[in-house]
Amino acid sequence: MPESGAGATGIAARLDEWRQRIDRVLAAALDAHPAAEPRLGDAMRHAVLLGGKRIRPLLVYAAGDAFGADAGALDAPAAAIELVHAYSLVHDDLPAMDDDALRRGQPTVHVAFDEATAILAGDALQSLAFAVLADAAGCSDAARVEMLRELAAGAGGMCGGQALDLAATGTGAATGIDALERLHALKTGALIRAAVRMGAIAAGAGAADRNRLDAYADALGLAFQVRDDLLDVEGESATLGKTAGKDVAQDKATFPALVGIAGSRERLERLGGALRDALAPLGSRGAALAELGTVAIHRSH
Ligand code: IPE
Ligand code: IPE
Ligand code: MG
Ligand code: MG
Ligand code: MG
Repeated sequence: MPESGAGATGIAARLDEWRQRIDRVLAAALDAHPAAEPRLGDAMRHAVLLGGKRIRPLLVYAAGDAFGADAGALDAPAAAIELVHAYSLVHDDLPAMDDDALRRGQPTVHVAFDEATAILAGDALQSLAFAVLADAAGCSDAARVEMLRELAAGAGGMCGGQALDLAATGTGAATGIDALERLHALKTGALIRAAVRMGAIAAGAGAADRNRLDAYADALGLAFQVRDDLLDVEGESATLGKTAGKDVAQDKATFPALVGIAGSRERLERLGGALRDALAPLGSRGAALAELGTVAIHRSH
């Protein structure tokens, strides 16, 4: 296996390796916690195993690796954050929320199954995330508890951000930029920050390094959602694997709605600078994190 800080090819190979690894870990976690009712289990597998970029688990591996953690000690937090993310997507797509029919190039869970099953699958995925993390191997009890706290992205985190998003839906550009940044920082940034923090906790990174990583994660979280907003305007459903043009149709509060396409791109560039600055003191140890920052900003889906 190449060392941290290997060249561009080495980093791409490393990210690929982690991508394959998390797919195995997620499948094993679902196998190890069978659903009492088979259709519910099928809906959970549909939500978790059929695609997805796996950015959040990759952030756990990259942050942990930067501070010397073994991949084995990062598997549980990496799986846990992807399970919470998958749950958030299942609920985000429900008719009561964004009412989307396409996700990761597949019918959404409530379309492929039914609404009640989608609600339960989301609930069960969230519970599974905490069960997986409670059994994390290769870390102290104190680290495990700290990671569990990070994973709890509730009313003051991701769920709070989703509530702000829904409250702003239909008001579009009337939302102020500060309110929009807060909304994005919560609905998307909270899980991204948690992913980076869990990697750092598993690796036993010190306070100064954690603060640097927080600055990186905050820039990355906002950039990730600005790019998502831009792709909704500029992308095509076939490439995105989800329905393009939904934000405009629903008059969502987004970056393009508030500051336009050029303003959004300019903001993305500045966020790219901020996340690279935050990583600079880490030198080559931060190479995989830097690459994930580039992916977040330039991705096409
Ligand atoms: C989509 O997240 C929802 C947002 C927070 C923007 P991703 O773009 O990471 O979705 P997947 O996991 O790759 O499908
Ligand atoms: C989703 O934001 C954020 C969460 C699921 C927490 P969006 O509603 O913009 O995500 P997409 O565009 O449906 O993937
Ligand atoms: Mg939404
Ligand atoms: Mg949505
Ligand atoms: Mg979106």
